[in-house]
Amino acid sequence: MNELYDTIIATYTGKPGALLSVLEEVQRRTEHTYLNEQALLYIAEKMEVPLSQVYSVATFYSFFNLKPQGEHTITVCRGTACHTKGSKPLLDDVMAMLGLHESEEGEDESSYTTKDMRFTVRTVACFGQCALAPVIAVDEVIYSRMTGDKLSTLLKQLIARKGTA
Ligand code: FES
Repeated sequence: MNELYDTIIATYTGKPGALLSVLEEVQRRTEHTYLNEQALLYIAEKMEVPLSQVYSVATFYSFFNLKPQGEHTITVCRGTACHTKGSKPLLDDVMAMLGLHESEEGEDESSYTTKDMRFTVRTVACFGQCALAPVIAVDEVIYSRMTGDKLSTLLKQLIARKGTA
């Protein structure tokens, strides 16, 4: 793994935003799309950047993951407009359909991953599409005016799509 990190670091060293680019590429090329502790330590040491700075970048941007992610990510908006239009029941439905529980040990409050690593459920403060509330994203695709029925159909299709990302 260190060889891969070395190659990535060498690619971006001396370029503007090098740390951000290195973290992005390391995450992209790590199984389950996340930044593990070993990677962060290694990057800090090799790039001669304080570990605290590496952590603050990795935690500031929401597209960085510090935990292993599922093949598919379902993001439920929990902003005010979406909340008013029923995003909480939608979130509860997603969690129930995937057998996830909000209180599971070791999970933080905004991200839950199924044990088989197929699905990650997370929340977001606002997609910036409040007029189309409630809004949900499945991987990169945004779904507006989501309903319980539409969501259930969508999830069933994803669950049936065995082992494909
Ligand atoms: S509150 Fe959900 S898109 Fe803005």
